[in-house]
Amino acid sequence: MKFPNRILSGIQPTGVPHLGNYFGAIRNWVELQDCSTSKIIVSIVDLHAITVPQDPYMLQQNTVEMAQSLLACGIKDDQILFRQSTIPQHSQLAWILFCKTPVGWVNRLHQWKTKSEGLDGHLGLLSYPVLQAADILLYRATQIPVGEDQAQHMNLTTMIAKSFNSHYKTEMFPIPRALYCKSKLILASTASKRLMSLKDPTKKMSKSDPNANSRIMINDAESEIQKKIRKATTDSIQGITYDPINRPGVSNLINIIRSIRNVDVQTEFAHLSNKEFKDRVADELVAYLGPIRQKWVELQRESQYIEQVLARGEQEARQIAESTLKDVHRCIGLP
Ligand code: AMP
Ligand code: TRP
Repeated sequence: MKFPNRILSGIQPTGVPHLGNYFGAIRNWVELQDCSTSKIIVSIVDLHAITVPQDPYMLQQNTVEMAQSLLACGIKDDQILFRQSTIPQHSQLAWILFCKTPVGWVNRLHQWKTKSEGLDGHLGLLSYPVLQAADILLYRATQIPVGEDQAQHMNLTTMIAKSFNSHYKTEMFPIPRALYCKSKLILASTASKRLMSLKDPTKKMSKSDPNANSRIMINDAESEIQKKIRKATTDSIQGITYDPINRPGVSNLINIIRSIRNVDVQTEFAHLSNKEFKDRVADELVAYLGPIRQKWVELQRESQYIEQVLARGEQEARQIAESTLKDVHRCIGLP
């Protein structure tokens, strides 16, 4: 059977995204949306978020801020943007898939091992990737744009889909294809696949770093961007060169510009001092993020509109989800 193309991705409700999230994931969705003939589906995965401890108020707040940010970044309001937990079929299909997934398949995944360190590894965390498979299969999605860190989860989803289809001798689910988001900085054949922390360029730029100066947020004001870039860790070598091993800080700043546009480091930057170079990086970022920040600020007063977009997304998601779950129930002998 030929399944229609359907692009789907998911993102955790972590509030306002940083530059790494944007270049590593969100921008790719915006580009795909613009060249896709069908609506793309973006799920804000609040059920995945509760696999680690969450403050209830913050979870609520961060979910809305993520929706606001996705719209500010260019996800159009007529696509299917919704909160995972509002569609109970995600949990229902996940349960069915739990019953089809050997424990060994999930036991060996890295993320579970890393995240459960120091926590009482509970079943939610162990089951995280099966819920992710349910997110994808529920919509019979065919293309899944994700970061390369999701490769194991994508392989598991493929295994679950294939084993379901073959066990029931059915073509219930298409085998989804991961589109690994090669952001432009990766295409530029850099050593780093990630944007790194501005304060410690050997670590990835991350929401959980206690130092807020280590990351640029997509809604940072001009003065914040300038301050953070000025304070970014570099080195005392003269001139600007791309050398991720020996000059990780400078190379990370080059990667930031490379994420925005093609650069020829030699002709454009080699002669600049560190300070001049940082001013250039800040200027380019301010210009690039300006329209995103402006939209973000406008949406700040539009909480009703954001709710409407989510409610409409939920309605469309529900139709697809109900239909798939009905098919699955019929297939396995449930009412
Ligand atoms: P997270 O909330 O950290 O799981 O990030 C969500 C997605 O954003 C990941 O799947 C990655 O694709 C992307 N991402 C996160 N941090 C970075 C980073 N420092 N550089 C590039 N991409 C990132
Ligand atoms: N695990 C993904 C991440 O951390 C988020 C996610 C949940 C997802 N469900 C998904 C991504 C379905 C793609 C498709 O980034």
